[in-house]
Amino acid sequence: MARHLITSAIPYINGIKHLGNLVGSQLPADLYARYQRARGHEVLFLCATDEHGTPAELAAAKAGKPVADYCAEMHGVQAKLAEGFRLSFDHFGRSSSPQNHRLTQAFAKALDEAGLIREVSETQMYSPEDGRFLPDRYIEGTCPNCGFESARGDQCDNCTKQLDPVDLIDPRSTISGATNLEMRETKHLFLRQSAMKDELEAWIDTKADWPVLTTSIAKKWLNDGDGLQDRGITRDLDWGVPVQRGDEPWAGMEGKVFYVWFDAPIEYIACAQEWEEAGKGSDWARWWRTDAGADDVRYTQFMGKDNVPFHTLSFPATILGSGEPWKLVDYIKSFNYLNYEGGQFSTSRGRGVFMDQALDILPSDYWRWWLLSHAPESNDAEFTWENFQSSVNKDLADVLGNFASRVTKFCRSKFGEDVPAGGTFGDRERQLVADLSAKIGEYEAHMEAIEVRKAAAALRAAWVLGNEYLQEAAPWSTFKEDPETAAMQIRLGLNLIRLYAVISSPFIPDASAQLLEAMKAGDADWPSELDADLQKLGAGHAFTVPDVTFRKIADAEREDWQARFAGTR
Ligand code: MF3
Ligand code: ZN
Repeated sequence: MARHLITSAIPYINGIKHLGNLVGSQLPADLYARYQRARGHEVLFLCATDEHGTPAELAAAKAGKPVADYCAEMHGVQAKLAEGFRLSFDHFGRSSSPQNHRLTQAFAKALDEAGLIREVSETQMYSPEDGRFLPDRYIEGTCPNCGFESARGDQCDNCTKQLDPVDLIDPRSTISGATNLEMRETKHLFLRQSAMKDELEAWIDTKADWPVLTTSIAKKWLNDGDGLQDRGITRDLDWGVPVQRGDEPWAGMEGKVFYVWFDAPIEYIACAQEWEEAGKGSDWARWWRTDAGADDVRYTQFMGKDNVPFHTLSFPATILGSGEPWKLVDYIKSFNYLNYEGGQFSTSRGRGVFMDQALDILPSDYWRWWLLSHAPESNDAEFTWENFQSSVNKDLADVLGNFASRVTKFCRSKFGEDVPAGGTFGDRERQLVADLSAKIGEYEAHMEAIEVRKAAAALRAAWVLGNEYLQEAAPWSTFKEDPETAAMQIRLGLNLIRLYAVISSPFIPDASAQLLEAMKAGDADWPSELDADLQKLGAGHAFTVPDVTFRKIADAEREDWQARFAGTR
């Protein structure tokens, strides 16, 4: 039994996420966590809300609420939506937790003692009109790299370059729109990432198995221009982790907080402490400290491509630089973007489907299946309602749902609601078992490699094999001359429903649970010896006909949704 530590990039607290965000980290992380659990491994699956920084402050101000209240409320909203999508976190924490405050301050102290922090006096944008320094996202302007006019102070959304607010051309305050910004002197802490460049590069060079998307972005940041830059890790803000050296004050840093991207990944660790403190488990250190057994943990992170520099370089710099025995990530799975109907999802324009809206329309399995089977892995992907409708109607309703319904209903009408006795496997059945074994083997290999689309395709192919078998064996015809053989075929069909429920559970957990219950399956053990696994429901075993597992989406509905989510709400 292996131990898997799995984290999803922690979503910003402000606002409800759209389906593109969901498929970029939380959903595939859940798929992998469910799969590893189903294979009998020990899993700790963590996520949290990312609560600090300017986005949180801005959103709270907009909602007219104190930022702490706003965050508490939105954490509840996001936790509930995560449940709605059946994201099986062992704990859904908060980066504003006391655990993360302590840990972040402790890391800063360790980094300082290792000589990796330097104090920098810099001039920063100050807005007399707003009466404050304007960090990051309080400033917008033109990107010096690509000319994009709404680049944010910390990153250009157009060319993904990480920026410093002072780099922007024609900067303006996003609070007041003021352009009469002036430069004022302020002191900040910088993490000396440049001093760790060789160590980081050597570490990344050991990761030949990582997705190209991950390593190419890391390499770019290591070697572009002047190479890896030191990063400012403090900000002039009220909301955040106060800058302290452990629990000691830090002279000259009064009134400042750590930069959100410094404390957010540390929450991966703090979240395990929260998990333990919430009484959900014990011994967090066993997952995170190599001096407490974490050496045999396999740690996998999931994230969108814009998060890659922070996870391949900044956070490892924090971990390695501390000189303490923390667990480093073993595998980073990153994703491209999901677009929406020929454009981008847009929060401000209400364009695209957001998590709450999705669940209002259809149960989570419909979304899970489409999103995962179209995950933006090697390229950006696109959500279209037509594609969604056709995937749901074909894959889920026609192939899987219909199989379960035909087999159970036919059995009920001819043999009753007990698995029928009689007959033995012939050539066709032996061939099916062989084909299915191969297909499931493929499926498992793709799941191990976190090739999400390929895994979905293999799973669908396994469903198709059952349909083809049923079509060829045609128990409804066989029944007329040879009821014994028809009984065997239908017994196999019922066992296939059970098998599909088990192997599909990482993708569509609710449908799987429904089918397992209808089959009164008893256990949901992963198949190991297919021949035997397909005889688990023996003659006389009672089952029930499940309700419709997946319904079809009608054209009129699709058109209605298309119009409803087109944007500018
Ligand atoms: N909140 C960030 C985003 O949504 C992700 C933070 S991931 C962590 O892009 F590493 F900081 F935790
Ligand atoms: Zn740019």
